[in-house]
Amino acid sequence: MTRKISKVARQYVADKKIVLWGLFFEKLLRNLEACVVVTDDRGKIIFTNKKFSDFFNYTEDDVRNTDWIDTVIPEPKQKAVDKVFTKIRQKRLLARFDAPVMTASGINRFLCWTCIPVKEKDDIFYMFIGLEPKDHTRYDVRTYVVGTADKVRTYKKIVDLLFNASMVSEPDTAVHAARVMLFAVMLAKRLKLSKARIEKLKSAALLHDLGKLLVDEKILYKKGRLSEKEFDQIRMHPSWGSNAVRFVYFLQDIIPIMICHHENYDGSGYPKGIKGNAIPLEARILSIADVFEALTADRPYRKGFSPEEAIKIMTMEKGIKFDPKLVDIFFHMIKGGRILKEYF
Ligand SMILES: [Fe+2]
Repeated sequence: MTRKISKVARQYVADKKIVLWGLFFEKLLRNLEACVVVTDDRGKIIFTNKKFSDFFNYTEDDVRNTDWIDTVIPEPKQKAVDKVFTKIRQKRLLARFDAPVMTASGINRFLCWTCIPVKEKDDIFYMFIGLEPKDHTRYDVRTYVVGTADKVRTYKKIVDLLFNASMVSEPDTAVHAARVMLFAVMLAKRLKLSKARIEKLKSAALLHDLGKLLVDEKILYKKGRLSEKEFDQIRMHPSWGSNAVRFVYFLQDIIPIMICHHENYDGSGYPKGIKGNAIPLEARILSIADVFEALTADRPYRKGFSPEEAIKIMTMEKGIKFDPKLVDIFFHMIKGGRILKEYF
């Protein structure tokens, strides 16, 4: 099955030659359980997702190239939202604001928006993610220019949203990622990494295989041996995944971890072939957690190895694939029984 790209994204890809953006739109934003509007620098709509169409009762074609404020904000509140948008544009701010919205059928609703300025080469886009609040009584435009605490909350929300979207697209990959995160965090805690570094590692673990969404499913789920050419595509997933989050500037910190999760300690990994301590510590942790999860998880075509068998297999890769010191600490933890008790 080849990946389908919608008319809008295809057009967009053709115009801008930004293939990744196109696929990113398709695979992630389309499935997001939140209304997504992407506009150009002038606020003209380039892309909307399925949830947006359902919520507003517009098709993508209805709204493409229209001004997003004219389209979704009721007239009396347009000026106030325009003020917010101008501020975001001037300062390239990541911002949260609440605003009343109007559907195609003239029904008033209310959405809490996060606006993420996204830079691709010389172009700036604005990605608006709108979530409906639990209480619908508010009707004023309220802005929260993002402060530190808010930034952390928004950051987590976006990681959650991206992760949930990948869950819909590729549930197997997402379940794997969630378990990898647990193992990686345990090892990181044992190594006494700071809270901030553990937070980054968590996000990187959840999103580390995001790039697999762009790998052809025929290759991703092939049961037999992969040809060299097919494997080349698999090898692209760390770069593709990092490219997808590169657009979101506050996810920059997790890129070195994501991109290096298949680097090997002896330099035989991909994509860069770097070795030893040149590989970020978090990526070395992630690599151990990733393989341990993959070996011990049940697959449709085979049962997972027991933790003891997994350790045996991974020991052969000590110093080759894995950082020998880290892997020893990890094995020690598993043998200590905590992981066994909680996860097997
Ligand atoms: Fe991977």
